Amino acid sequence: MEILILPTAAHAERLAARLVADRLKAKPDLVLGCATGRTMEGIYESLVGLARAEQLDFSRAHTFNLDEYVGLGADDERSYHHYMEEKLFSRVNLREEHTHLPNGVAADLAAEAASYEQRIRAVGGIDLQLLGLGNSGHIGFNEPLSSLMSRTREKALAPQTRQQNAGMFGGDPEKVPPRALTMGVGTILEAREVIMVVTGAHKAKILATATEGPITSMVSATALQLHPHCHVLVDEAAATELVGRDYYQWTFHNEPDWAPYHDLLS
Ligand code: GLP
Repeated sequence: MEILILPTAAHAERLAARLVADRLKAKPDLVLGCATGRTMEGIYESLVGLARAEQLDFSRAHTFNLDEYVGLGADDERSYHHYMEEKLFSRVNLREEHTHLPNGVAADLAAEAASYEQRIRAVGGIDLQLLGLGNSGHIGFNEPLSSLMSRTREKALAPQTRQQNAGMFGGDPEKVPPRALTMGVGTILEAREVIMVVTGAHKAKILATATEGPITSMVSATALQLHPHCHVLVDEAAATELVGRDYYQWTFHNEPDWAPYHDLLS
């Protein structure tokens, strides 16, 4: 795992978008794992900007989202499906049949989960997985005690998560669907590369727990410490609780891999 500290959230978002664009240029049939939430909004906005400025071609790419609420269809504006249509799918030349989200209104959710795993395998697995970090320490909707080997399945949401996501539901956590379909921690760990983006002072504690704390199913993001190719992009505000902060500051400025990205700071 590598933590990169950028001055602001906008810098972290721009770096994430830049990395997606570069991976797509290197592999036009990229399989991109997509996340949702507020953190991702700036990333998709930046990516759409890059797509326009640099004529990025998504026509051979595939996307797989992490999760979807049970009971919300694609036409429900509170669904992640709708979020993705609005923020990314309708704004780049992704083919509709190449965009995948778990179907939260499937009659048989267990069968839907199994078929989702099968669809990921059928395109050769996920090349690059984008992640946010929930206040409960979750990735996707892998709430506390999710098995670190779990696969796509139905999961009950933690009260803290329903609280965090209440904004889209009139501010009322009780209106947030209680269950979701989510890729498992094991599914996420199989992605060939992972980029987690964590910004804002409110994430400082959980970021430190997730990256520097012991690996535990109580905080599913700690499993990323096992991943051989995981970058965590954070802003100064989220970095305040990190014990290794000075070293991570050094990394972005000195590791040769990151030299091509220094112009993002200007
Ligand atoms: C939701 C999603 C997660 C996401 C999290 C972070 O719970 N299921 O995949 O990482 O939100 O949200 P935000 O970026 O709004 O803090």
